[in-house]
Order: sequence, then structure tokens, then C-alpha cells
Amino acid sequence: MKYQIAPLFCRPWTLNGISARLIESHYENNYGGALNRLNALTEELEALDPSTTPAHVLGRLKREESAALNSTLLHELYFASLGGDGRAVPEVMAAALVRDFGSVGRWRQEFIALATGLADDSGWALLTYVPRDGRLINQNATDHRQSIAGGIPILALDMYEHAYHLDFGANATAYIAAFMRNIEWNAVQGRYEDAVKVEPPRQLVQKQFADVPAISVEEVTAMLAAGTPVQIIDARPRHYTTKAQDIMEGAVWRDPERVDEWIGELSKTEPVVTFCVYGFHIGCETAITLRKAGFDARYTAGGHFAWKAIKGPVKLLR
Ligand SMILES: [Fe+2]
Repeated sequence: MKYQIAPLFCRPWTLNGISARLIESHYENNYGGALNRLNALTEELEALDPSTTPAHVLGRLKREESAALNSTLLHELYFASLGGDGRAVPEVMAAALVRDFGSVGRWRQEFIALATGLADDSGWALLTYVPRDGRLINQNATDHRQSIAGGIPILALDMYEHAYHLDFGANATAYIAAFMRNIEWNAVQGRYEDAVKVEPPRQLVQKQFADVPAISVEEVTAMLAAGTPVQIIDARPRHYTTKAQDIMEGAVWRDPERVDEWIGELSKTEPVVTFCVYGFHIGCETAITLRKAGFDARYTAGGHFAWKAIKGPVKLLR
């Protein structure tokens, strides 16, 4: 398969303080170079036999391939980031920047600082949308391969010297200012609107417990921090707790097979949170039993190990 060249997105003659000559050289030599390298590497990889090629040879080619592919993609994004009035951030985009950075000004300061930090080095300053969390972050990448897994970059600033030396010499600060002046925010916003349609990675779905309300360990932390009265029941199976060493602080262990014996200790006026080892079964079943008995009970998604993974406080079990 051959990768196709993308036409230049921005109109070079419209840029303010960035010459058409610089854009032409950048597009032809550096973007074109990356694309040609990518196609040559692809051809080389397709021609070799993975069963007989030494692993280090394959590894090197694959590293070069991902660098050339990312360089190609990021150059296309760079040219598609230019051509507008950088001061005019449209409404949807401005709201997204305010949501994730506090203000457009703060985003701008952080992005410029990241780019400035690359002036003596090289790399990319990127604004990237992360579908997993539905948020934007700024990222710097000192080589082409440091992309965020699953992230969708929507704005790219090329901080390799070839991107500015012709016009600005070593004055990276002036180049960054010119880039910021020329950002095509309408295109950035269009990419943002496309990116937010991307579904986050699939989460664990427990069909058999779909009707049982769950609570996240972060929510449990917030309840405790707020001083909300809550009854926390560690319902890990007895056979498991005989070898377990710790228990969530503030929780009491109760045998999930003997709910009848301890259910009378609980108050119906305070919520109940149940824990099991991973949050798959026992905690859910215990929550169901308690709900049937009229308690406001929820099971903890991810269970004891999710609690430990967020460094929730634990104490010795015995
Ligand atoms: Fe470049």
C-alpha cells in the first residue's frame, strides 16, 4: 500500500510574517521527505519475510516506519493549523480550552512555553484530545514517535529548525509568535468537533449486574473527604481474606455468605458501599441483597484493587 501525499492545506500567501518560500520548502522537502521515506520503508517491510528477518532488523524498520508515519501525519496537521487569525478563537473551541485549561490565555501561555522549551532541541508542540477522558491536553514531543496512545492531535506546531530557520534564523520566539498569529482556529475547531465524536475505549460491562448501582473509588474518596456518613463493607470471600493482608481504612469485613447474621448492624439512613476483590461478583451480589432489604447500597467498581491502585488508605487486616 502506498501512502498518498496530501495537498497543502493553508494558503501560503495569506500568512502573516511567515513566507511562502519557507512553507514551500517545508512542504516539499520535509513533509515530502517523510512521506517518501514512509513509502520506501513500507515497501521494504512488505518485501521481507518476518519469519527469517532478524528481530533487530525488523525492530529498526518498524521504529523508522512509525517515525516517518508520525512525521507525515504531524506535518499535515501543522499545515492545517495555519492560515487564520490566531486571535479569533471560535466559541466551541474557546469553551473547550476554558474547560480544560482554565482560560484561553492560560492555554496559550502553556502551549507557548512548551514550544519555547523545544527551541534548543527539536520536536512538536501539540494540542491533543484524549477520548478516554474527554479532554484536551498540551503535549511536547521531542521526536516524531511520542504521540499519546489513543489521543487525537488537533493543533501542531513544528519546532524542528527546518520549520523556521529560513525566515527567523535562530529566533524561535519570533517564529512561535508568528505561528500563534496565524492559527486557523476554525479548522482546529472542526477537528475538535470530529474528535469529540470518537468513543472512549470500551469499559468493562457487567451485563448481569447492569441494574445494580456502582460507585467509583474516586467517588468513595470524595464522600469520605466530604465527611459524608457511609457504611463501608468489605465483602471479600472468607477464603480470600485468610490470605489477604490489608483492608480499606474505614471498612469492616463481613462474610458475604452470612449477610443475615450482620445485616442487622447496618443503618438504613446511611448509604452502604460494598467492596470485593475486583468488583466482579461478590460485592455486586452483596449490594443486591442489601438493596432488596431496603438499604441504599452500591458496589465499588474495581473493588479492593482499584482502591489500592489509587493509593486509597489501607490498614492491616488483622
Ligand atoms: Fe517540519
